Amino acid sequence: MIQHHVIRSRAPKHEDVTIRPARRVDADAIVELVNGYAAEGIMLPRTLDSVVHALDDFVVAVDRRGRLLGCGALKEYSPSLAEVSSLAIARAAHGSGLGKRIVRQVEELSLKRGITELFALTLTPAFFESAGYAVADRSAYPEKIRRDCLRCPRRIRCDEVCVSRSLAEERALEVAA
Ligand SMILES: CC(C)(COP(=O)(O)OP(=O)(O)OC[C@H]1O[C@@H](n2cnc3c(N)ncnc32)[C@H](O)[C@@H]1OP(=O)(O)O)[C@@H](O)C(=O)NCCC(=O)NCCS
Repeated sequence: MIQHHVIRSRAPKHEDVTIRPARRVDADAIVELVNGYAAEGIMLPRTLDSVVHALDDFVVAVDRRGRLLGCGALKEYSPSLAEVSSLAIARAAHGSGLGKRIVRQVEELSLKRGITELFALTLTPAFFESAGYAVADRSAYPEKIRRDCLRCPRRIRCDEVCVSRSLAEERALEVAA
């Protein structure tokens, strides 16, 4: 099987980028990208197994040669609540709008599944704010605390900020406009 890696050269132009559901062939590159940031303490690490099992939840950005530029995933907590997780853009492609495009695709996936409440825990709340999220109180998401935070080595000194967005409200505003 051909395995594609994470792009390390300059970011391709907007029209050369495809955002699509992840496939098995993307899994190794997703792990490489996410775990590169995890090694810097910016993200939580992922195993290849966990990515392969959750492939249907992942969205990727690839260039014309199939090299991975970025990824993001929808992590479901309940029929109405999910987290935007494992969001990572290759450094070479930072600042070209890809992060926002992937978040939008994860939101589309969420809406397709009927999930309208999204949250994220992030060290870069300004990025999420520019994508329409607002800072929120993480105690509003006890499911997240139970599933991940209690097992996280940084739970005592966590500096991640919780942000959230209600897609139902956004859609209602769009329809009314
Ligand atoms: C955070 C990250 C996903 C942003 O991706 P990106 O493709 O560079 O972001 P975009 O180009 O889509 O930027 C969208 C907006 O966010 C802003 N933004 C991007 N990164 C930012 C940062 N680190 N701090 C503040 N604002 C930021 C941009 O200025 C832009 O604002 P605008 O729409 O008002 O012009 C990317 O830097 C990354 O992968 N970082 C390492 C991993 C990480 O932190 N993941 C998030 C974990 S939840």
